[in-house]
Amino acid sequence: MGNHTLLFLPLLLILSITTTISAHNITEILSDNPDYSQYNNFLSQTKLADEINSRQTITVLVLNNAAFSSITSKHPLSVVKNVLSLLILLDYFDNTKLHQITNGTTISTTLFQTTGNAQNSVGSVNITDIKGGKVAFGSAAPGSKLDSTYTKSIKQIPYNISVLEINAPIIAPGILTAPPPSSDVNITALIEKAGCKTFATLISTNGLIKTFQSTADKGLTIFAPNDEAFKARGVPDLNKLTNAEIVSLLQYHAAAKYLPVGSLKTTKDPITTLATNGAGKFDYTVSVAGDSVTLHTGVDSSRIADTILDSTPLSIYSVDSVLLPPELFAKSPSPAPAPEPVGAPTPTPASAPSPVADSPSPLPASPPAPVDGGPVGAPADAPSSAGHSSSEKSAGVHVKASAVLTFTVTALSAFVVSTVFMS
Ligand SMILES: *[C@@H]1O[C@H](CO)[C@@H](O)[C@H](O)[C@H]1NC(C)=O
Ligand SMILES: *[C@@H]1O[C@H](CO)[C@@H](O)[C@H](O)[C@H]1NC(C)=O
Ligand SMILES: *[C@@H]1O[C@H](CO)[C@@H](O)[C@H](O)[C@H]1NC(C)=O
Ligand SMILES: *[C@@H]1O[C@H](CO)[C@@H](O)[C@H](O)[C@H]1NC(C)=O
Ligand SMILES: *[C@@H]1O[C@H](CO)[C@@H](O)[C@H](O)[C@H]1NC(C)=O
Repeated sequence: MGNHTLLFLPLLLILSITTTISAHNITEILSDNPDYSQYNNFLSQTKLADEINSRQTITVLVLNNAAFSSITSKHPLSVVKNVLSLLILLDYFDNTKLHQITNGTTISTTLFQTTGNAQNSVGSVNITDIKGGKVAFGSAAPGSKLDSTYTKSIKQIPYNISVLEINAPIIAPGILTAPPPSSDVNITALIEKAGCKTFATLISTNGLIKTFQSTADKGLTIFAPNDEAFKARGVPDLNKLTNAEIVSLLQYHAAAKYLPVGSLKTTKDPITTLATNGAGKFDYTVSVAGDSVTLHTGVDSSRIADTILDSTPLSIYSVDSVLLPPELFAKSPSPAPAPEPVGAPTPTPASAPSPVADSPSPLPASPPAPVDGGPVGAPADAPSSAGHSSSEKSAGVHVKASAVLTFTVTALSAFVVSTVFMS
């Protein structure tokens, strides 16, 4: 947090954490059989397909179109999503394992448990071997019946994913009657409560909240910087920005589509934002390291700290840093670390050991960091390539909000860009 010094090295790009590339694709697995077309379709609509693909050790209990229609014909998408989430087990069960459950009964956690919508055992499933070699499933909530039966195996990739067919949905108490949440969510209140008061105030006073509220039911993702993020060193002084720039900066913190964590983890393309327009890309790339998801703007990076809300089609996250678009904070035509090649591994600043010592460093030639926060361009004698030198130099000057030290080094086709903002 508060680290606005970014060090990028192409070598590290290659060597560091790889974006999770899943070995399975549930959409493809199910596309072979038209009996599962509805189920498959809803996995995509709810983005649960991304969630499944981004996980290892998972079992998907599939319903054929006839069995699934009892849910889809009567209930809103939010309910369908919850029902589907309860059919995605966070463990690996194939035909053999189902019939060898110790003591004939076990409980498995499901994806529904991870959504925060499930209390106690409502997000878990009871799997029990019953007489005649059959295997039955039911909610793990007390008093639930084992109403669902295993019918056949569809596909296994041991021990990553197992896809099994069951004959009926697993219904946990209350799961069918939960109201669709996003339509009446008070976004400001929610964000405030999650420790993002400054951002909540900014989107209210600048009128952004109206846009957010009106697009919330069409697909919207908000990345709300927490209050510490606005206090961090290097955050631009908003008083020095024009109103239009502040609005762009705020719009930059939202995307006009639903992006739950699974989708963020599997996304290959840069995420375009509400600020994206003909004049600027205003996008960012995503890198994944285990459970940690980081957004890279080209100027800075921000880890996703918390999921504040995941309610199809609205997702809200808190992020550790204010996202700074290159379009406002570095006028360089091609900001050094971005755009990433599609699917390329991306380093997080935290993971990047200081490369300065290992490379032909411009540091000896650099003037000391200014105390007054005035802009300083790249040192004239830095061994930078002509192309980068001028653009990076002007970047330092153009940064409205006191970006201060920018230098570029190009050597052995590697370059280090360090941007230091001071407030
Ligand atoms: C999964 O397969 C579907 C259908 O074949 C394809 O459209 C989709 O792009 C694939 N997803 C990924 C993440 O590769
Ligand atoms: C199986 O049952 C025995 C006896 O009731 C019990 O001690 C043991 O903990 C059970 N094992 C599991 C995995 O539940
Ligand atoms: C699963 O449900 C059955 C029937 O209600 C019950 O007898 C069994 O104890 C449950 N299994 C577990 C592990 O709680
Ligand atoms: C299982 O998943 C891991 C990690 O994604 C992958 O390396 C491995 O190849 C997968 N196994 C199979 C059989 O696809
Ligand atoms: C939403 O919450 C904010 C802050 O708690 C409050 O000021 C505002 O009136 C609420 N809006 C609606 C429409 O209830």
